[in-house]
Amino acid sequence: MIGIFDSGSGGLTVLSAIRDRFPSIDVLYYGDIKNAPYGSKSREELSALTVHALKFLSDRGCRSIVSACNSVSASLAVSLFDSFDVGLEHLIEMVGPTVRAFRGTKARLALCATPATIQSGIYQNAFTMIGKQVEYISIDNLAGAIEFGKSESEIEGIVRQAFPEYVQEKFDVLILACTHYPLVLDVFKRVLGDKVSIFDPALVVAERVETQLWPREMGDGKTHFAISQDSPHFRTLVERLFPNTTYEIEVVE
Ligand code: DGL
Repeated sequence: MIGIFDSGSGGLTVLSAIRDRFPSIDVLYYGDIKNAPYGSKSREELSALTVHALKFLSDRGCRSIVSACNSVSASLAVSLFDSFDVGLEHLIEMVGPTVRAFRGTKARLALCATPATIQSGIYQNAFTMIGKQVEYISIDNLAGAIEFGKSESEIEGIVRQAFPEYVQEKFDVLILACTHYPLVLDVFKRVLGDKVSIFDPALVVAERVETQLWPREMGDGKTHFAISQDSPHFRTLVERLFPNTTYEIEVVE
């Protein structure tokens, strides 16, 4: 069984891509809604929350972990994994597969993410290593607005403010480096028009899950959700994204 975690419902976009590629994998999904959004938290807070999520998943028997949260990427220290029964070869995170997808490409890139992700410098370091210059756009409050089901017009207002015309002229591919953002893909498309293509990292992360964990993690395709606070919005999203799946949603401490 693999464990997937995020601050809430963002990781569902990654789970959905994984299910498409690897239907037989057994999944325990942990959404820490009680502490969402993660993107405005300090590095110390995020490290503590990461340890908590890993411990939860590891205690429940997950030996492979997918971090479906960009904001904690800088907290996934190599040394952390020695404390759990999770080997590094059993960890999949968002940054590596995303950056790798642009190695050797000519596209003019922009990347938008939460303040925590941008401030961590993790994408900046990785893109610098492959010699790519990228425009970085930090969007405050967007993941929270999506998590807590704010209206589409409110969400569109936040996205419009982040992408004034002069910023849009600088890139032709936009990377959505927050797993919540693909949940409002239509809003991004409306704001950016058809001159910009939008890249959802969930696809390359799912591909990595398949190459790295198949066939070791082959199971019966079971799906179990554990959330740290009940949320009707989360339940609705799960229903919408996984209409033909049998699952349980458990509210945990
Ligand atoms: N979906 C997460 C990410 O990719 C967390 C967003 C948040 O909770 O602020 O960064």
